[in-house]
Amino acid sequence: MSDQYFMKRALYLARKGAGYVSPNPMVGAVIEKDGKIIAEGYHRRYGEAHAEANALAGLKQVPPGAKLYVTLEPCSHHGKTPPCLERVLAAKFSHVIIGMEDPNPLVSGKSIAALRRAGVEVTVGVMEGDCRALNESFLKYVTTGMPFITVKFAQTLDGRIATSTGHSQWISGERSRRFAHKLRSLHDAILAGAGTVLHDDPELTTRHVKGRNPLRVILDPKLEAPLTAKIFQNQDRAATLIVTGIRSFPDKCSQIRGLGVDVLQMDQEEDHLFDLQELFLRLGQRKISSVLVEGGSGVITSVLRADCADRVVAIVAPKIIGAGLDTVGELHITSMERAMGLRFKKVSRSGDDIILDGRITKPLS
Ligand SMILES: NC(=O)c1ccc[n+]([C@@H]2O[C@H](COP(=O)([O-])OP(=O)(O)OC[C@H]3O[C@@H](n4cnc5c(N)ncnc54)[C@H](OP(=O)(O)O)[C@@H]3O)[C@@H](O)[C@H]2O)c1
Repeated sequence: MSDQYFMKRALYLARKGAGYVSPNPMVGAVIEKDGKIIAEGYHRRYGEAHAEANALAGLKQVPPGAKLYVTLEPCSHHGKTPPCLERVLAAKFSHVIIGMEDPNPLVSGKSIAALRRAGVEVTVGVMEGDCRALNESFLKYVTTGMPFITVKFAQTLDGRIATSTGHSQWISGERSRRFAHKLRSLHDAILAGAGTVLHDDPELTTRHVKGRNPLRVILDPKLEAPLTAKIFQNQDRAATLIVTGIRSFPDKCSQIRGLGVDVLQMDQEEDHLFDLQELFLRLGQRKISSVLVEGGSGVITSVLRADCADRVVAIVAPKIIGAGLDTVGELHITSMERAMGLRFKKVSRSGDDIILDGRITKPLS
C-alpha cells in the first residue's frame, strides 16, 4: 500500500468535520502497521479533540514500527486542547507522514522540526494539493485574518437573479435549493443586503439540511429591514448581525438590539458605502473564517468591486426572462483585458440546473 492510499483515507476522514470545526482546519489521521490501518480519527468539532488524539484514543499502546498519516502538521501550541505534538512524540512512531505544513504562524514547521530532532522520520507533502484544497478557507484565514469569501447566486441562463419587479422565487430547482442550504452550513456567516430582505423576507437558515446555521450578516445602511422580518426571528438558533452606519437612527438600533440582534456600526465612505475589506477583517476578528455572499445584486457587485471574493458558485437555471435584475452590476470594465478571471473547479448538474464552481484567478485591480 502506498503513502497516497493512507493519506486518501485520512483526507476522507478529515472531510467529515466540514461545517463543524471552523475556524480550525479539517484534519484526518490514520495509524498504520504492516500495511493495515489499526486506528484512525478526525477533528469532529471545534473545541474537541484533534485528529491525532482521536486516532491514538483507539489504541491501548502504539506498537513499534507504526506509522502516522496526518493531513496537516500536528499543532505545537496550546489552544482549546493540549498540543498534538506532545502526544505524537510520546507515541514513538517510526515514521510520520504529513500532508502539508501548517501555515499557522504558531506552528509553521515547528512540529516537523521537533519530530525530526527527536529522531522520527518525517515525510511532508504527500497529496499536498488535496490537503491544501480541503482547507482553503482555513489557509486564507490563518495567514491573513480575512475570511474566505464565496459569492453564490442562482441566475437565469441570460444572467438575471430576479425579474424587473424583483421577483426571484424560484429561479433554481428544489435540488439546487437544498444544495444552497448545504453550502450555507459549510460557512461561518452569510452576507445579504437589505434589498433582499425587503423583497424576499428570507430566513437564511439551513433548515432543509443537517448542519449548523451560520451567522446572518445583513448590510442595511438605512435600517430598512422591518422588525417583523424573518432574519430577526429565532436568534437562539441562527444569530443575526446588522451592519449599519455610525449615524443610523439610534432608536431603531436600540429596537433591533432589544430583539437580541447584534448591530455593528461602521463608517461610511464618500459614496455612503462601507469598506468591505474592513468589514471582513472585523468578521475575521469575530472568528468568522468563511462568508457566503448570497446577494442581491447590490451586495454581489459591491463585494466583487472591492476585490474581496475568492470563489464564485453560480447556479444556472435553464430559463430566460429578458430584462431583469443583472446578477452583477457596474464594475467599470471597458475592455476584456480587465475582466475578472476564474478557473472552473467543478461543473455539475443539479436537477435541471447547472452548478459552476470557480475560483477567482484574476482579480479586478
Ligand atoms: N437569485 C438569487 O440568487 C438572489 C439572491 C438574493 C437576492 N436576489 C434578488 O435580488 C434582489 C435584491 O437585490 P438588490 O440589489 O436590490 O439589494 P441587495 O443587494 O440585497 O441589498 C442592497 C442593500 O445593500 C446595501 N449595500 C450593498 N453594498 C454595500 C456596501 N458596500 N456598503 C453599504 N451598503 C451596501 C445597499 O446600500 P445602498 O442602497 O446605499 O447601495 C442596499 O441597502 C431581490 O429582487 C432578490 O429577489 C436574488
